[in-house]
Amino acid sequence: MGEPAGGHAPFQMDETYPTSEIAAIVGKASELMGIPPHQLMEKYGESLVPDLFLIYKKYMRPEWRTYDMLLNTEAAMHAAVRKEDSRATPPLLLVTKKGRRQLVVDYYSRRRMAAVAVGIIKGIAKYESEKVEVTLLTPVGEERVQIRVYFLS
Ligand code: HEM
Repeated sequence: MGEPAGGHAPFQMDETYPTSEIAAIVGKASELMGIPPHQLMEKYGESLVPDLFLIYKKYMRPEWRTYDMLLNTEAAMHAAVRKEDSRATPPLLLVTKKGRRQLVVDYYSRRRMAAVAVGIIKGIAKYESEKVEVTLLTPVGEERVQIRVYFLS
């Protein structure tokens, strides 16, 4: 295996790395696999969920399913992430209830990784065996992105 883009030692799980490196990796992988970058990021987000749940279980209530999990991500999960690792900068998520079957997630991050957010939302629903419809209300590659989550089950 060659060295990562920055020319540093192999990646470590408890280290932080510049966003430009992940952009370079996604760009190259997308080229090699012939899959658009945002689709790749979405799949990555989806695949992250079981590990996130394993590591952050203590911050979750057992009765939470996808709806409550999303409503509590900012206050419970991302707040815990920021507290446990001061170098971590998870995105700001403003989640608004639009009735019993619908949430609107306002994503904000300078990393422009809302496609990962879409994947995480789908991954949580899959983990909970729930059917959801995730729709982008604004373009996915921006710093601010609005995502609608509709609960079918
Ligand atoms: C379920 C519990 C969740 C946990 C434990 C969790 C934890 C984390 C952690 C550890 C990071 C890395 C931050 C860093 O190293 O700087 C992160 C980033 C991220 N999280 Fe979460 N997260 C959760 C839920 C969500 C949900 C529901 C969404 C989307 C609606 C989301 C969207 C993201 C995105 C897109 C990033 C990438 C960084 C960025 O865009 O700036 N997360 N999260």
